[in-house]
Amino acid sequence: DATSDNARKDHPMWSSRMAFILAASGSAVGLGNIWKFPYITGENGGGAFVLVYLLCIGLIGIPIMIAEVMIGRRGGRSPINSMRQLTQRDGLSKRWVWIGGMGILASILILSFYSVIGGWALAYIGNSANGLFIGASTEAIGTMFSSLLADPYTLLLWHSVFMLLVIMIVARGLRSGMEKAINILMPLLFVLLLVMVGYAMSTNSFAEGFAFLFQPDFSKLTTAGVLTALGHAFFTLSLGMGVMMAYGSYLPKQVSIVKTAVTVSVVDTIVALLAGLAIFPLVFANGLEAGAGPGLIFQTLPIAFGQMSGGILFGSLFFILLVVAAITSAISLLEPLVEWFEEQKGISRLSGTLIGGISIWALGILTILSLNVWADVHPLGMFERFSGKTFFDLFDYATANLIMPLVGLATALFVGWFMSKPAAENELNLGNGLAYNSFMFVIRFITPAAVLVVFIYNLI
Ligand code: PFF
Ligand code: NA
Repeated sequence: DATSDNARKDHPMWSSRMAFILAASGSAVGLGNIWKFPYITGENGGGAFVLVYLLCIGLIGIPIMIAEVMIGRRGGRSPINSMRQLTQRDGLSKRWVWIGGMGILASILILSFYSVIGGWALAYIGNSANGLFIGASTEAIGTMFSSLLADPYTLLLWHSVFMLLVIMIVARGLRSGMEKAINILMPLLFVLLLVMVGYAMSTNSFAEGFAFLFQPDFSKLTTAGVLTALGHAFFTLSLGMGVMMAYGSYLPKQVSIVKTAVTVSVVDTIVALLAGLAIFPLVFANGLEAGAGPGLIFQTLPIAFGQMSGGILFGSLFFILLVVAAITSAISLLEPLVEWFEEQKGISRLSGTLIGGISIWALGILTILSLNVWADVHPLGMFERFSGKTFFDLFDYATANLIMPLVGLATALFVGWFMSKPAAENELNLGNGLAYNSFMFVIRFITPAAVLVVFIYNLI
């Protein structure tokens, strides 16, 4: 049909709507849900932060996910070339192509440290399976974590194993690599998470954990917390990195973008809340600190595993599934770059995956060193805002607080104000009545304003 003439025909496609939902949920559900959401919620005092986070998901996250998938499917190429395609067709400024380029840059930075953390989870499968948590004191478990972070060689080993797994899946291609892996891994994750919530319900601190997540106390909310919530909304939904554009470029024409984006966002949010419900009751039951920071799931959950019956089995399965969740996200982080490589003359999927994967693996070494040997190296220490930040902190900060929101803002503005109306109408497939106009209103005004308000709020 005349409306799909932008999309490439020599392109693989997800085999079904369900395959895309699982892949995009696999990208969304990851360390962000099970590791990061619980600990930033803990650091920011719980309920009020969760409320702001949910607002960010609804008003900013979902509309931007829809916008990214629209661009991806319309362009039918990697984020850079999809933007090039859409701007050339309609005679728009070439500057918009930066959306794709910055997105890919962010995906590279994120994957470089995401893989190191995935490596922690790999190491913890071994720790759990070897019974190291059983009967261990809180102190011993704390030491186990800090000595892992202090040891660059062990970190490098697990980071390498993790990247190797990612490279192997991505190199095999969309259907026989990514789709196959995702189809098995996602349902497993969900079941295991429910088992963990069930265990948390059996402690006598479930109500306390529940209240911590859902009772807002606005006195605990800071401006930094609001910015963190916004950054995390982007991170957790895999936005502002070209990932949803890349995945959208493989989305069959007849699938509803709006419905699938809402589904993926709801799945991601439910998993994050369930992770909180699985973790905080155990934290409180063991008299531990909810605001423990990044070590929360590596220092508190193991204590619980060390005490529950079947702890070796459940602990090992939990960390296996954490790895699984991380891998389905990591493959999505590599895809935009690999898709772009594939579009270059003479670069096959295999070599593109190797070039991209190995470069990102090497970049990950900066994160590893940030945790030990270079813990006191602060590359941008001359700027007050970045003082005390290691390479790892800077990658995390730059992507979550700057690049992702900026790319997201630009994406919203592009789809709201610049993308051709027939193209937008056709991709949304909402007709051109109330539903279409409501979406357009949100993406033109509400989403950009919300992102901007948070930025300005942060500056004051
Ligand atoms: N959404 C993933 C998570 O919550 O862990 C992380 C992530 C994956 C971020 C892919 C960005 C991305 F492009
Ligand atoms: Na997520």
